[in-house]
Parts: sequence; structure tokens; C-alpha cells
Amino acid sequence: MDPMTAEFDANPTLPGVPDPYPIYRTVRETDPVHWCPGAKLWAITRYADAEVVLKSDQFSRQAFLDQVQARLGDQPIVRMQRHELVFTDNPRHHELRVLITSVLTPKSMQALQPQVQEFIERQLGALRSRGEMDVIGDFARTYPTQVAAMWLGVPESERAQIVEWIFPLVAGRGVARDPESTAAANRAADQFTQYFRELIARRRADPQDDLVSSFVQAAAASGGLMSDDDLISLFIAVFAAGHGPGIALLANTLLALLRHPEEWDRLRSHPEWVPSAVEEGLRFDPPTQAPNPLAALADVEVGGKQIRRGDVVSVIIGAVNRDPAAFPDPERFDITRHPNRHLAFSGGEHFCLGATLARVEGQLALQALVQGFPSLRLAIPERELTWIPHDRFRTLARLPVVWGVS
Ligand code: HEM
Repeated sequence: MDPMTAEFDANPTLPGVPDPYPIYRTVRETDPVHWCPGAKLWAITRYADAEVVLKSDQFSRQAFLDQVQARLGDQPIVRMQRHELVFTDNPRHHELRVLITSVLTPKSMQALQPQVQEFIERQLGALRSRGEMDVIGDFARTYPTQVAAMWLGVPESERAQIVEWIFPLVAGRGVARDPESTAAANRAADQFTQYFRELIARRRADPQDDLVSSFVQAAAASGGLMSDDDLISLFIAVFAAGHGPGIALLANTLLALLRHPEEWDRLRSHPEWVPSAVEEGLRFDPPTQAPNPLAALADVEVGGKQIRRGDVVSVIIGAVNRDPAAFPDPERFDITRHPNRHLAFSGGEHFCLGATLARVEGQLALQALVQGFPSLRLAIPERELTWIPHDRFRTLARLPVVWGVS
């Protein structure tokens, strides 16, 4: 293996690497189902193999979490994850998804749009006369959490604390899980849990026209399927799952557009292509570079490799989304690409539950930027951009931009 893939062997999501795509390509072309000795897992880099793994009932999230617990011992963060949908297997997983999707309806997202648009206009409107901003620090950092809070019906005055808890909570959930980030995540998890336990009690006593109240009612009618702990984990998952990827969806898509000015100009002339530009951003530089790993429940063959029972596998979305077998001319950023069946929201049973919300959220923000800031460009050379070395998520530290002010 090429020396540059040593980093891949240590952690195949390549945290902090400015351009992981040439490395992904080398692995995909030379050893597409690759054992990473440092990370102790199989990395899946081809689209067809990813589909096999994601759709197979021979790979389990619960079994993976069992391995984490065996390694770390009894930790609050692991106890919390036990209740989470993403670490649950069928049949319970399916039953929970049916219940959750009965509340998180497309209608609940449509109702949210005017509120989100107003929020964006207020935030970006206040920045317009400045002529410069850091898209992440000045806007995107809090945007997905604010939207999720609006969606669930968290009172406005209580939203800011959730924004602050979310950072350590997310940082402590990666594959590496060092003691320091685990301790910070545990503290944030306790605060979150306490807050939502109290909010559930408030809504149970005095239901409102909001999703927290609808969930409390649906859980009460579920015949014990969903406890308060499950509900709390779901609310936390809604915030945690949307936070980093929501920031990255906007920042990575915008960066790709600014690096390809001809595509930015096409979008300015055709704002109706915003939804397809968001899809291409998700394919080209996906916010989540890998779903949570899975553990094999039996010996399974994938892409010609023998995966043993208990082995851990990780689908590398960044690599899969540029597989030429699935995407013609995959290195090209094309905002009108069609079809575009990327795996940015994963696939199979654990397909992202918030994909519709995330898409609408990204589309509304991108639309506001392309229409309100048509002369937008990067404020610093590309080589000065810093990628946060976060497990699984591909997020810039800052995205400084400038525009002309008349
Ligand atoms: C750009 C934004 C987003 C991206 C790229 C994204 C991506 C993903 C991916 C890759 C998975 C699979 C994870 C795994 O199997 O380990 C997932 C699952 C999930 N996502 Fe998202 N997500 C985004 C936003 C959201 C939002 C806003 C929500 C809020 C509801 C959300 C809620 C979830 C949940 C609950 C799951 C677990 C589903 C299950 O296990 O059945 N996501 N997402």
C-alpha cells in the first residue's frame, strides 16, 4: 500500500485531511474492501459493496456498541446510545421508526419553512452591510440546532443552551473516544437529559401544539415501546445528528461552488437548481464521511473478502460517492447531475431520518446566499482552510467569504 494510505489505515475517515479524495481513490482502485489495522475495521469504498453491507441483516449496530462497551466499560454516553435508534437493530428498530415517522411528517417540515426563512433573513440580513463573514462562525454554527429546536417546539428562550451543549456531546461520540472528550460528552449528555426530562414533564402536564407534545402522546399510546429515556435519546439524536452534518452540508456545498465559479454563476442564473446543487454538494464532499460502524453477526463475504463474525466494517461515504461505477465523471462537481443516488444520508434500515429536514434546511440557506450575496467569493486562499480533525464528519473550522457592498 502507498505510504499516503498509512493515514487511512489509522482512521479511514481521514480526520482533518484537507483533500482525502485522492487517498480514497487509491484504496478503492487497489483494495476496495480494505482491512485498516490501526482502526481495526474493514473499510468499504465501492458503491456496490456499500449497498450490500447497508442492506444486509448480517451486520449489526447493537453488536458494534457491545464491543465499544466492552472496551470502555459502563459510561453514561454508551448508556445513552443504547436507547438511540441508530444503535438499535430490528425488529425494535423498525417499530420505533414507524412510531417516529408518524410524528415527524413532511407536513411538520412544511409548516416550519416560513419560520426558518425568517430566521435566515434576520441572521444574514444583519451581516449584509459588512462585506465579509465567516459562514460557519457567523451563521452555520448555530443554524441546524436552531432549526431542529424550532421543529421540535423548544421555547425560543431555551434554545441557546442546547446550542452550547451540542458541541461536546457530538465531539465525544466519534470512533476514537479519548477519555477527555468522553468526559465532556458525559457532562453535556447529563445536562441534555435533565433538560428534556423536565420539558417532557411540562408538555405531559400541559400539551402544546408542538412535536415534543406529539411525541409524548405517541409514546404514551405505544404500549411501552417508547419510554421517556427513549424519547430523550431521540430528541438528543435529532440535535446531534443534524448539527455537524447540517453545518457541513452548507459549508462544503458553498465551498465547492466557490471553488467552481462557473457552477456558482450557473446557480445564480438558475436558482431553481438549488435543490440539485445541494444533492451534488452532498455527493461531492459529504458531511458524514462514514455512518457508525457495524459488526458482522456471521462470516460474510463482501467484495471478494471474507469478513469474520465480530469483525467491524465501516462504509466510507466519501469514497463510495466518487465510485466511477456509480457516478459518471465522479471527480467533476456538476450542480445539474442527474441521477445522483449518493449515499450521503447512508442507506438501508438506518437511512437518515432527518434527510428531508436537512435538505430543506440546506436549500433555504443556499438560496438566501446565492440570491442575497451574488458576488460571494472566498476571502482566503484555499490552502489556508482548516478541516477539523473530527471522526466521521468533514467540517471546516471557518469559511471566510467576502462580497461587494454598494
Ligand atoms: C446534512 C445533514 C445530515 C446528514 C448528512 C445526515 C446523515 C446521516 C447518516 C449518514 C445517517 C446514518 C448514520 C448511521 O447509520 O450511523 C443518518 C442517520 C440518522 N439521521 Fe441524519 N443526517 C443529517 C441530518 C439529520 C437531521 C437534521 C436529523 C434530525 C432529525 C437527522 C437524524 C438522523 C437520525 C435519527 C438517524 C438514525 C436513523 C436510524 O438509525 O434509523 N439527521 N444521518
